[in-house]
Amino acid sequence: MDIQEVLNWTDEQVFTKTGKHLDWLQKSILQGIWQHQDYYEIAANNEKSYDHVKKEAWKLWKLLSDVVGEDVKKSNVFSVLEQVQIYGNHADCLPIGNINICSEKQRSPSYSHSPTPQDSSPIIDLTDAPDLTEFYSRTSELTTLKQWILKDHTRLITIYGLSGIGKSLLTRQLIEQIKTEFDYMMWRSLSDRPTLSSLKNQLQQFFAQSQQPSLPTIIDYLRHSRCLVILDDLHNLFKSGELAGEYLTDYKEYRTFFRQIAKNHHQSCVILISWEKPREIATLEAEKHSTRTLHLKGLSADAEKILRSHQLTDSDKWPELINLYQGHPTWLNIIASTIVELFDGSVSLFLSYSEDIFLGDLEPILESHLERLSDLEQQVISGFRKNQAIALSEQPTNPELSQSELWSAIQSLVRRGLLEKISEGERGMFQLHPIWQQYLKFKLS
Ligand SMILES: Nc1ncnc2c1ncn2[C@@H]1O[C@H](COP(=O)(O)OP(=O)(O)O)[C@@H](O)[C@H]1O
Ligand SMILES: [Mg+2]
Repeated sequence: MDIQEVLNWTDEQVFTKTGKHLDWLQKSILQGIWQHQDYYEIAANNEKSYDHVKKEAWKLWKLLSDVVGEDVKKSNVFSVLEQVQIYGNHADCLPIGNINICSEKQRSPSYSHSPTPQDSSPIIDLTDAPDLTEFYSRTSELTTLKQWILKDHTRLITIYGLSGIGKSLLTRQLIEQIKTEFDYMMWRSLSDRPTLSSLKNQLQQFFAQSQQPSLPTIIDYLRHSRCLVILDDLHNLFKSGELAGEYLTDYKEYRTFFRQIAKNHHQSCVILISWEKPREIATLEAEKHSTRTLHLKGLSADAEKILRSHQLTDSDKWPELINLYQGHPTWLNIIASTIVELFDGSVSLFLSYSEDIFLGDLEPILESHLERLSDLEQQVISGFRKNQAIALSEQPTNPELSQSELWSAIQSLVRRGLLEKISEGERGMFQLHPIWQQYLKFKLS
């Protein structure tokens, strides 16, 4: 099969239907895709921007879809031709030189096509990913992540935040919106603590399904194709009882692996999801490598939808309830169930009866975070029982603590999403949310 024949035929069909010929960029896009180039390479070869080529390609697929009456896209334009090669002439097929393009319905159900990255739909393994359930907006977080991935081509992204805050669901929603941009997409939970070599083997096997001969390293695959790899539950590889984001002894190699992903040139993106921000990520950010971090916080106005889904009443009191529980979707779901169980859904009654912040079923969840703290952090956080905020300039309440120990502990508590900075500069103030204060009071009383 000759690309020139395909171009001539396609041009003829487009001209018959629209009265216009394909322009040189449209032909270059077809030619580039034919040669397994991606949009970056096509853009570079034609001295155009990636965005421009992508936009023109999108228009081209739309035009060709109208012309051949099939849903044409980058991923299937030449697999259609491959089909035609297999089935030859058919009454409903369109001839291109000595080839025919047939419609989808004429393909054999037994037809098996071994996909290659650039000529097929993305190859996706979402076995470990959560189901796409009811999802409330997070518009600004999704916009930020899409900007980092699609426009800035960030190579390593970390999403961290408290358990149940919505990290996995947000990422699941994100990949639904961007999956057509990738050749490969894999979601792997690290909750079973795979060693780095076992993870690399799994990734290698996944990529090698359609990439023969296989490539020597994971970075080679990330360079060769557009891959999106999500590594969820990373905090399972961190030590408990130490400052945040410190790897367990047998998992320190992950640090080097993530450094390579951020520093080496490639066209892929790896997303890390964790309760804690890994220490090396902070260093990579400081070194200005291709690394971004999103600290995921609670829902704002959309948190009301959670309360609505539980059919709570007294909607004028909902903002107060949301504020009290930090807009945290899982906590709000739990508290809403309690309000239904004990107060027939009345938020006013619930708020008026509880003198302190009611924790109930949240206790084990809060404990799962606090039990991971180092001794130093435990000492510092217990000082928040009385003060809601601590200034960096303050002398530690415990005279045995040095100033630098206090700062390390504060930094680590921030990397766990427990403390929040509320004012900048010399008078940098750090605040513990009332819900944690309440839990500390309860625990240390
Ligand atoms: N944007 C959202 N809209 C609706 N519910 C949400 C949202 N984010 C999280 N949730 C609720 O919180 C639960 C936990 O979210 P998940 O993404 O698993 O948290 P994480 O990965 O941070 O531990 C979800 O199962 C869902 O019930
Ligand atoms: Mg999760």
